[in-house]
Amino acid sequence: MSNRTIVTLAAGVMLTAFASVASAADRAQMSGEQLFTFHSCVNCHGAQGMDPVSRLVPKIGGLDAAEIQDKATKILKGETDSEEAKLMKSAVAYSQACDAPPSAAEIEKIAEWLSTL
Ligand code: HEC
Repeated sequence: MSNRTIVTLAAGVMLTAFASVASAADRAQMSGEQLFTFHSCVNCHGAQGMDPVSRLVPKIGGLDAAEIQDKATKILKGETDSEEAKLMKSAVAYSQACDAPPSAAEIEKIAEWLSTL
């Protein structure tokens, strides 16, 4: 990765640090769209997953729900090896109080919402 890419992606990581913390009960009420913001996905993938901050961040709005869920889950579990995937994993981890990563059900909600765009 170029230095410029690292700076761009690191900015996404820092932005996510300001995301607010919500209780589990609040989170259960959130729509896929709200969870996309809550879990900081929007900071890199852009509005509706269609306006990424860098060309290394893929557009994910409108993809197949199962594909989004599968890929996001692998990245967040650390099963995808690229440097970009590792950045996404740490950005999402640091966006919350560190003990509140997106659950499988939340990723499914986000994926379903994105697939409708
Ligand atoms: C720090 C920026 C960043 C954040 C925050 C982020 N992503 Fe990503 N995401 C990336 C990058 C970079 C890739 C490309 C990974 C690769 O090339 O291996 C990616 C890849 C993906 C992919 C795979 C797309 C494809 O076609 O291969 C999905 C799905 C995805 N992200 C969903 C999410 C979701 C859902 C969230 C929130 C829980 C999220 N991302 C948060 C940067 C981010």
